Amino acid sequence: MTSVLPRPVAATTGERIARPRHYLMCRPEHFEVRYAINPWMRPGEPVDRDRALAQWEELRQTYVDLGHRVDLIDPVPGLPDMVYAANGATVVDGKVLGARFRHPERAAEAGAYRAWFEAAGYPVVGPEFVNEGEGDLLVVGDVVLAGHGFRTDPRAHAEAAAVLGREVVPLRLVDPRFYHLDTAIAVLDDATIAWLPEAFDAASREVLRARFPDAVVAEQADAAVLGLNAVGDGRHVVLPAQATGLAAALRERGYEPAPVDLSELLKGGGGPKCCTLEVRS
Ligand code: ARG
Repeated sequence: MTSVLPRPVAATTGERIARPRHYLMCRPEHFEVRYAINPWMRPGEPVDRDRALAQWEELRQTYVDLGHRVDLIDPVPGLPDMVYAANGATVVDGKVLGARFRHPERAAEAGAYRAWFEAAGYPVVGPEFVNEGEGDLLVVGDVVLAGHGFRTDPRAHAEAAAVLGREVVPLRLVDPRFYHLDTAIAVLDDATIAWLPEAFDAASREVLRARFPDAVVAEQADAAVLGLNAVGDGRHVVLPAQATGLAAALRERGYEPAPVDLSELLKGGGGPKCCTLEVRS
């Protein structure tokens, strides 16, 4: 008689496991589009701040409902882009690499985020070179994918490796619409990404194909609504509601899409991930 061993559920159903996260966010109290530092921004076109606040609140509530912890940093008047918290720092194992912004309009945000981390008991290191935090430094398991080409200085990559103690993989962005790495790559879990190959130069595409053979390849239409500006917890993927094709592709791969409409914040060139800085302690 042959005995049949029960198979682990996860292997048969492809069940994905969420890990509780700790995020830092900034209410868009002073959000407006009054300068243009990326192709999404059109000063002069109307922005509805109350709507931005309501949409942002829905994002915050989504994280809370998924069981994540959300801390808030006080918004500073005169810093309309401070809502894009991802750019404020990069945190790995409780080690914080401070940000340094490319554009003078955002320069003062670096100090505000530094002060928040210091007050919370995290020492902040650096930076010597321009790096726009998790906008360009994406932690995937043990490695940090590091974008350059528009914002982050390639010299910041070695600095990030030294401060964070992780291998850093440089990737060159080539399409100005996808000016930050987190507009071209979504981290789904510790081993899987979704990405838009067209946003990278040929060498970087090869690197990503070799490292992530199981990656979800996004369609242009989804990337064009910043669909890849998404936040994964291992199971759920919080992504722009407009990225319906990507949501379907993720569902097929066993992830649970959690769509949120951040149309007002898209006018500044950001989506869910831009508004979310992960605090990894
Ligand atoms: N207006 C901001 C800028 O151009 C948007 C930042 C979006 N953040 C991000 N992580 N991609 O700098």
